[in-house]
Amino acid sequence: MILITGATGTVGVRLTRELLAGGVPFRALVRDTQRAAQMLGPEVDLVEGDYERPQTLRVALTGIERLFLISPLTPRLADQEGNVIDAAVRAGVEHVVKLSTLGVLGGLSSPEPRQYPLHRLSEGRLERSGMAFTHLRPGPFMQNVLSFAPQIAGEGAFYGSWGDGRMGYVDVRDVAAVAACVLFGEGHERKEYGLTGPEALSQAQVAGKLSAATGREVRYIDVPPEVTRESMAGRGVPEWLAGAMVEVMASIRRGGTDETYDGVSLVTGRPPCSFDDFAREFAPAFEPRMAEASEPV
Ligand SMILES: NC(=O)c1ccc[n+]([C@@H]2O[C@H](COP(=O)([O-])OP(=O)(O)OC[C@H]3O[C@@H](n4cnc5c(N)ncnc54)[C@H](OP(=O)(O)O)[C@@H]3O)[C@@H](O)[C@H]2O)c1
Repeated sequence: MILITGATGTVGVRLTRELLAGGVPFRALVRDTQRAAQMLGPEVDLVEGDYERPQTLRVALTGIERLFLISPLTPRLADQEGNVIDAAVRAGVEHVVKLSTLGVLGGLSSPEPRQYPLHRLSEGRLERSGMAFTHLRPGPFMQNVLSFAPQIAGEGAFYGSWGDGRMGYVDVRDVAAVAACVLFGEGHERKEYGLTGPEALSQAQVAGKLSAATGREVRYIDVPPEVTRESMAGRGVPEWLAGAMVEVMASIRRGGTDETYDGVSLVTGRPPCSFDDFAREFAPAFEPRMAEASEPV
């Protein structure tokens, strides 16, 4: 049996859909079963569990052979994933597929964004656990851009501190498709997959592609990191997370992230979604009346 974690999150919701569509039997660990049932539908087999309460993990992992491990970006990431890894070893889980990030590969100029060492710590713990493992390392999600939809709809612009740095965006649905193939397939033990779309893009290029897709001019406006951090604080983003996001922007601005990886096509056998395709599909989300609605998934 497969157990997926983070099922109500950005990646997990799409992974749940992939597994349901493929007719793959699986269970989803969630903190709130009622809320999750409303989100995911009655056909998903739910089990209650919380990374911060290891006793709940023991029950949730009973009878599980393969586990998809994902945790939210907080200072507790390595501790929470450590709790799950320890419980998985005790439960006899055979293979853990961990969602990590491209940033763990290093090679960026210092200072390193705060979340990368946490993911690296967790990857190391998993590698030493004795269980088979696969690391999925995506670049930034294309769907992150949807959070700019209200600004783009309102003033035709979005703001950030990436400078001219480029990054290998990936569609979350491709990440989910890879995860489903790895969980269901064979031969992925001890593999590490970098996951990006077909090209690394600067924010000016992203703006150009959004302009082409929407038929309205979209501009990227670069602002100092303090302005980005204050704006995030104003929107209620927790201080640690805002710091992590600004640090990622700074590392991309300094360069060294202008790379693409072929994990999506290697694992799924089809090319990854391009930003042009993504922008065309989600163009209505950047129109004034759509931007008021909730983020499309
Ligand atoms: N965003 C990007 O561009 C990007 C790029 C590369 C890598 N990543 C990595 O992706 C990961 C985040 O993935 P995501 O965006 O899918 O996550 P997300 O949307 O933040 O969702 C987090 C999930 O974890 C669950 N969760 C939170 N605390 C939990 C706990 N104590 N016990 C059990 N479950 C818990 C949440 O459940 P509830 O519904 O109960 O809250 C939710 O399902 C991070 O590790 C990040 O580094 C992100």
